[in-house]
Formats: sequence, structure tokens, C-alpha cells
Amino acid sequence: MSGELSPIDKAKFVAAKRAVDFVEDGMRVGLGTGSTAAWMVRCLGELVREDGMQIKGVPTSTRTAELARQVGIEVISLDEAKWLDLTIDGADEFDANLNLIKGGGGALLQEKIVATASDQMIVIADVAKEVAQLGAFPLPVEVIPFGWQTSKALIEETLINLDVLGRDTTLRMNGDAPFVTDEGNYLLDMHLSRIGNVRQLALVINQIPGVVENGLFIDICDVVVIGHGDGKVEVRDINTGTVEEDKIDFLENDNLFADF
Ligand code: A5P
Repeated sequence: MSGELSPIDKAKFVAAKRAVDFVEDGMRVGLGTGSTAAWMVRCLGELVREDGMQIKGVPTSTRTAELARQVGIEVISLDEAKWLDLTIDGADEFDANLNLIKGGGGALLQEKIVATASDQMIVIADVAKEVAQLGAFPLPVEVIPFGWQTSKALIEETLINLDVLGRDTTLRMNGDAPFVTDEGNYLLDMHLSRIGNVRQLALVINQIPGVVENGLFIDICDVVVIGHGDGKVEVRDINTGTVEEDKIDFLENDNLFADF
């Protein structure tokens, strides 16, 4: 069954599989959004169904909530959980300091709230997500629909004074209509190519009226689990400075592939 997965899917799967080792019985876990996070939710579901692990999951989007319920994870809201032991989520880019660009899947607002309300954030990513400098992936900014064109113009004006290479900003579309987030907002994708000062950009963008949040996650991620297509996984912990390597055997996980 695993033979049907592309190398990139295998890389995402092994990162997810290794990351669920961090989850312990009784934990409240933030469940990320995206294709890598979906593998993680499936792996967690397997632990719940087959090993009787008791966890409560706080999803970061309606689609993750749906998948979590489907695989047997008890879903609660962040307000019910109040604080989480751990969040596991994907990323669009990460750098050596484990700063991230997120929001390619459109869920950055809930993702940032949930990750920030967690003792630990673990990012799961295939090796292609690692970059020397953030910014090649368009940085998403969530804006309220009212006056979004004015917010867009203000963002573009603000970018003139910031250390970025590109300044084009585009409204994310879903077919012919604007893409609408779970919170009923729009997303502007900023095509910056290279971000010189991520901390400054993240702060300045959030000062613009109409901006709800941006997809830069600074000093939020603690651990990154990097998956490779051959089953190799690397676990980097920014707090301890440790790097561990492991190898995951696909054959052991045939049940999971067969189930989904
Ligand atoms: C969702 O809004 C994003 O932040 C995702 O975590 C990110 O886009 C990674 O998605 P994939 O795992 O699908 O690459």
C-alpha cells in the first residue's frame, strides 16, 4: 500500500509518525491543518483506536475537526481546553531558528492561537520546507473583508520601508470568489521572495488596520521533525540544541495506509 505514496507523501507521513511519539496519555493536543498534519491526525487516531490512548484534540480548522472525529479523537474547543500540552502542525517554510511561514492552507489564525496556547509546538515537515531565509513561499496575511483593498494598499505601502525583495500582494481566490477563512476573513498573499527581518515584518504588518494576523510564527516552534522520502526522520530541538535521527519502516504502517 505504501508503494502508492509519492516520496513527498512518504516524507510527510514519517515526520507525522515520529511526531506522535511525543504525545502521552491524557494530553490535550493541538491538531494542525494541512496535508502533513492530516497524516499526524490519522496516526493519533490509530493510537486512540488501537492502543486505547486517551487524548483530547483541539483542531485548528473545520477540516481538521472533521478528520479528527472521523478517526476517533475526542474533539474539544480551545476554550474548553484552556491550555494545551502540545501542538503538532505543518509549515510552509522553516529556517534554522525554527521560525516559520504558515497559512498556505488558509488556517493560520487558529493555528497561531492554538500553537501559542501550548507548552510545546512541534512542526512536522518534509525536507523541502527547510530554507536559509524565509520568504520564497508567499506570506499569508488574514484581513477582514471590510475595506480589504485599503488594507492591501496600506500593506504594500508599508513594505516599501521594509527589508524585503518583492512587494506584490494578491487576494487569495477560491475559483471566482475570494477564499474565505474559517473566521469569515480574506487572505492576502505577500510575494516577498526574501524577508530580511522577520521579527520586524511580523510586528509592523499586524499594526495595519484590517489586518487580523500574519503567517510568520516567530519563537513559537520548539521542535521540528523533518521527514525524508526514504523513511529517514530528523528531530531538531531548538531549546536543547539536540538533533536526533531515526528511520521509519513503511511496512509496519500498512494498516494505516489501508484504512485511509
Ligand atoms: C495551513 O494553514 C498551513 O499552515 C499548513 O500547516 C501548511 O500550509 C503546511 O501544509 P502542508 O502540510 O499541506 O504542506
